[in-house]
Amino acid sequence: MPFQIMYSSQASAPMSVGALQEILADARVGNVLHNVTGALVYVDGVFFQILEGDAGVVRKLMASIAADARHHSVKVFHEAEVDARLFESWRMAYLSPTAGQMAAWAGLPGATTIDALLRDLERDPQRPPQVLLNMLKALAQ
Ligand SMILES: Cc1cc2nc3c(=O)[nH]c(=O)nc-3n(C[C@H](O)[C@H](O)[C@H](O)COP(=O)(O)O)c2cc1C
Repeated sequence: MPFQIMYSSQASAPMSVGALQEILADARVGNVLHNVTGALVYVDGVFFQILEGDAGVVRKLMASIAADARHHSVKVFHEAEVDARLFESWRMAYLSPTAGQMAAWAGLPGATTIDALLRDLERDPQRPPQVLLNMLKALAQ
């Protein structure tokens, strides 16, 4: 069964378009190699990333990503075995919503700052699956 992991982290410096593209390029090369799929969200200096694949592979990749100096304060807040991958056709999809959009995806339209949203996401295990489905919908538009 595929395994999913979702984390948040703080970018070490404000991300230029070029720096983001470099991360995505690294991610896509690594993910083809490891048969990993997923999505990366960047909003107001915060990353959210979902990784899917073989559990052992995903955990190992997660450890390597967590050690990357381009971000810090990595917090894993969702881990699950799932029947099927959600981001099957994306080696690493990319989304850059506003904090308000991200809050709406989490079903928390009142959370206007990314910090408030982070706290709620970490507290409520029902939220991450909902965010993932709404991210998928946004990608399909
Ligand atoms: C926010 C962020 C997301 C990343 N996502 C991935 C990813 O999905 N897959 C991947 O292979 N590398 C990803 N990377 C890059 C890894 O941290 C690392 O540079 C890459 O896996 C190469 O590691 P290695 O030199 O140990 O092989 C990401 C880095 C950052 C900062």
